[in-house]
Amino acid sequence: MKEITVHNQEHLEEAIAKFQSSRHCVALTGAGISVESGIDDFRSPGGLWSKFPPDEYGTITVFLTDPEKAWKLFRSLGRGLLGKVPNRAHRVLAQLEDMKLLKGVVTQNIDNLHQDAGSNIVLEIHGNHHYLQCLGCGDVCVPPDNVLTSENVPLCRHCNRALKPNVVLFGENVRQLDEIYDLLRHCDLLMVIGTSAQVYPAAALPEQVKHSGGLIFEFNIEETVLTHGGAGGRAGSDYFFNGSASAMLQLLLNGNSANQ
Ligand code: APR
Repeated sequence: MKEITVHNQEHLEEAIAKFQSSRHCVALTGAGISVESGIDDFRSPGGLWSKFPPDEYGTITVFLTDPEKAWKLFRSLGRGLLGKVPNRAHRVLAQLEDMKLLKGVVTQNIDNLHQDAGSNIVLEIHGNHHYLQCLGCGDVCVPPDNVLTSENVPLCRHCNRALKPNVVLFGENVRQLDEIYDLLRHCDLLMVIGTSAQVYPAAALPEQVKHSGGLIFEFNIEETVLTHGGAGGRAGSDYFFNGSASAMLQLLLNGNSANQ
């Protein structure tokens, strides 16, 4: 079925009716949900990858062979997250969880803003920037205060190896995949919010939900590879909310309350 772009009351009411009849709704979020908190995304013009090409700075190989270089990216990423707070989109998802209308959030983001907004079930497929990890001895620790200002690569207190943020770099395995598959097993509605849907395995999750008969609601300021689906039998969105995450999620929340 071709996706419906929600741009009139009739489509909105239709989408809200589908939302209200869902029994196991889950949200999948990307960097776009945090843009309104002042955090650049990765692939939009001026995004992080335009300043630090991912294959030059963002892979595990670069970290292992040239940690000084990798830490240039990590410091810029860390500074971009400093002092940022959740926006309305994060808060709407926390509210929907409270109202038992959302089972949980699977996020590609490392910024901890879902938890800061009050969401309890948050599965972080790419880790969390709040900690540093040692790939040598496995230690996970709180970063030293000067981690974003010092030019030195932070070293492990146990084995003296270079530390990295506790996030997933390209070439590393993702996190919490079993918990994510468990959360999606009975998912009948996946809300895909602020992601370009290009990075796997997260980008395969809408397919999985669609495959088991679930619906896809997509929220984005622009169309993505998911919107029309198609290429290689790829699943597409059923409803496309073309606008900012905060405005479109608020629309859904308001509509839901109005239809109670
Ligand atoms: N509201 C809704 N969508 C938005 C907004 C907004 N205010 N601002 C930007 N977007 C959309 C963009 O149009 C884009 O489709 O968010 C998407 C962000 O896409 P990416 O920058 O590719 O980020 P993401 O999809 O999260 O990247 C996935 O790739 O780089 C790796 O590990 C990194 O987790 C990241 C993963």
